[in-house]
Amino acid sequence: MPILEPLFAAEAMQRRCDELARQIDETYGNETVVLIGVLKGSYQFLSDLSRRLHCGVEIDFVQLSSYGAEKSSSGVVQIRKDHDINIEGRHVLVVEDIVDTGLTLAHLCELLQTRRPASLRVVAMLSKPAARTHEALLDFVGFEIGNEFVVGYGLDHAESYRNLPYIAVLKD
Ligand code: IMP
Ligand code: MG
Repeated sequence: MPILEPLFAAEAMQRRCDELARQIDETYGNETVVLIGVLKGSYQFLSDLSRRLHCGVEIDFVQLSSYGAEKSSSGVVQIRKDHDINIEGRHVLVVEDIVDTGLTLAHLCELLQTRRPASLRVVAMLSKPAARTHEALLDFVGFEIGNEFVVGYGLDHAESYRNLPYIAVLKD
């Protein structure tokens, strides 16, 4: 049976969203930002973060190929769902759940840059710096964690646990 070891309580996630929203508001001021959430893992984070922003906000999503039921990356990134909003000349903030090797984010940012946004920034709820094999520039980070597999607050293992309001380390 898998064991869930709590890492960040629901309240800790909410408090961190407050702080990140303040930083993001300071960055964009009176500008409008297009939030691009990376499905599915960012859904709770994007929801909590976006409700705290006072700058202008538009919301869109992309979905990329994922790990499937595995706990390690296949090394291949594919777009399953592209964003709908035209981002040319717009301020874009990518909202990611977790940056592990950085492969997904590196590919996504490269693609988005070809669409000529006025600016491109990234907010990640979690980052695993020790796992990085691809350069990924993060403008805002919720929490840095070690090389552990975590679930909850949007993050899954084989599609389970996304609904948990807290983050836990999954141990088997
Ligand atoms: P990367 O391309 O290696 O940075 O992996 C990025 C994606 O892998 C994330 O957006 C997640 O969907 C998934 N992922 C990486 N680490 C974890 C984890 O600890 N728990 C759940 N999903 C993870
Ligand atoms: Mg993801």
